[in-house]
Amino acid sequence: MCGIVGYVGEKQALEVVVDGLRRMEYRGYDSAGIAVVVGDHLDIRKKAGKLANLESLLGADPLEAATLGIGHTRWATHGGPTDINAHPHVSADGSVALIHNGIIENFARLRDELAQRGIELTSQTDTEVAAHLLAEHLGQCEGDLAEAMRRTCRQLDGAFTLVAVVADHQDVVVAARRNSPLVIGLGEGENFVASDVAAFVSYTRQALELGQDQVVEMTRDRVVITDFFGEVVEGKPFTITWDAAAAEKGGYDLFMQKEIAEQPRAVADALRGRFGVDGQLVLDEMRLTDSQLREIDKIVVVACGTAFHAGLVAKYAIEHWTRIPVDVELASEFRYRDPIVDARTLTIAISQSGETMDTLMALRYAREQGAQALAICNTVGSTIPRESDAVLYTYAGPEIAVASTKAFLTQIIAAYLVGLYLAQVRGNMYGDEIAAVMKELNDAPQAVDLVLDTSEGVEQLAAELAEARSVLFIGRHVGYPVALEGALKLKELAYMHAEGFAAGELKHGPIALIEPGLPVICIVPSPRGRAVLHDKILSNIQEVRARGARTIVIAEEGDESVTEFADHLIRVPAVPTLMQPLVTTVPLQVFACAMATAKGHDVDQPRNLAKSVTVE
Ligand code: AGP
Repeated sequence: MCGIVGYVGEKQALEVVVDGLRRMEYRGYDSAGIAVVVGDHLDIRKKAGKLANLESLLGADPLEAATLGIGHTRWATHGGPTDINAHPHVSADGSVALIHNGIIENFARLRDELAQRGIELTSQTDTEVAAHLLAEHLGQCEGDLAEAMRRTCRQLDGAFTLVAVVADHQDVVVAARRNSPLVIGLGEGENFVASDVAAFVSYTRQALELGQDQVVEMTRDRVVITDFFGEVVEGKPFTITWDAAAAEKGGYDLFMQKEIAEQPRAVADALRGRFGVDGQLVLDEMRLTDSQLREIDKIVVVACGTAFHAGLVAKYAIEHWTRIPVDVELASEFRYRDPIVDARTLTIAISQSGETMDTLMALRYAREQGAQALAICNTVGSTIPRESDAVLYTYAGPEIAVASTKAFLTQIIAAYLVGLYLAQVRGNMYGDEIAAVMKELNDAPQAVDLVLDTSEGVEQLAAELAEARSVLFIGRHVGYPVALEGALKLKELAYMHAEGFAAGELKHGPIALIEPGLPVICIVPSPRGRAVLHDKILSNIQEVRARGARTIVIAEEGDESVTEFADHLIRVPAVPTLMQPLVTTVPLQVFACAMATAKGHDVDQPRNLAKSVTVE
């Protein structure tokens, strides 16, 4: 949540910062603001609403020319999305401009203490206290901005990324990080800080990871990192492997359309290079030994939203291949219910962003109980992989649309690879069995490509159903999490009631929802898999149809038994049972995207949401 960018160099800071905000707007779009340092004063513009509002303001009332600046795009937590609550926030003496991502949990006490010293807040945000504190400390440590930031951070509880600039400090940006994300971009005669590398990838691909509880002081040719007590530390350098074009729409109207279309490539990239020269599977980072993996007697997947659904899919495969019990837990619930985890538990944290606070906290909790941790993540160098014992990156490339698409498919691939890896190490499967599954996985990109050909029919169907009040999704086996994912997509994009059910559960209550004309999307398992599952879902389809539902059936090519029960039939390529989520999910993504478009919603930036949820 909230996108942050800071720049110091030779270019016009305004252009660099606005460009960075544009690329990070997916992180929050309740308001946007920018501050530049001009001589002995700050020039600041901020505006409620999307970045376009700020850009209009800048058009009417341009900022002064400057080569140092900061910018922020907000997802509101404390205080509504108003002009006053927009960042940057300024200290009482006007000397400090500060932006923030996260939540300062002790802000009420700090606010009261400031009031006792005669400083009243002008906004309803938690952030503003940090601006005042920084200015106070700056006055007490002879203008040493990094030291003032360290002192400020030591007073704060919670999660925060802070970036600040100061009037008459024309060549320095200072930033701090606890829990919320922050990376540094290293240029020639210029440097950047941002919540996400997307903000500066068009200027440099050389970056530094900032660790937990660290402060960075950055000029155009120097970056100094310390901990909160002034001890100098090294940042971990890394190279961004994708270019700026990957974070552009590339000819599509919407990022979501582009990301749906990219899925064959993303799945192929997630699989690339996974077999070592010795025929063994390889992960990206592995700090667990084979003997530790052989000791594992339970797997707990922690994740949120779409990533949680990927975990639910993975459970079917991992249990089947390894015979290790797999629990899939909503990360936000996990640590509050006294879960049973110990040194023989492998915790798998699945996260596109690698920064989701609920998932991070669940992971930390599991590690505190002695569990081993493995991250499945799309964002290289983000917090969740950094805090894990093993990492498998999904290599889906940047996902900008708030609704997850290619991340989901590649998370399934990655979780399957983890299952196969465990089966290999523990001897649950023969090498040729693993190779056979790998062949099925390697065939997946082509199958996903084929299913994209059905998109036009699905879009027409969505336009026809745009007035529906509710849509239900039913599935069995791996089709059940796909049903949940289809419903989530529709809720978040089309703002309509949508629910996914295990098809066998309908008769235990939800069937009462069926009324004439209600669209029910039915994900049909292959008759070549477990025939009993296929037959049972046909019965479930008839049950809802008998009560007047309009059935939209997703079934594999050649399965003619479904035809008579389908008011609308969506065909997907015939693939092995465990590969079916990779093809059956795609029409549901297209459906939700088209439904939201038909309703006139902003597909890439749905209301109330942000891409990366860095608060609990
Ligand atoms: C799904 O479309 C959402 N954007 C959301 O549910 C997302 O999957 C969830 O917030 C988890 O995000 P993460 O993968 O970055 O941890």
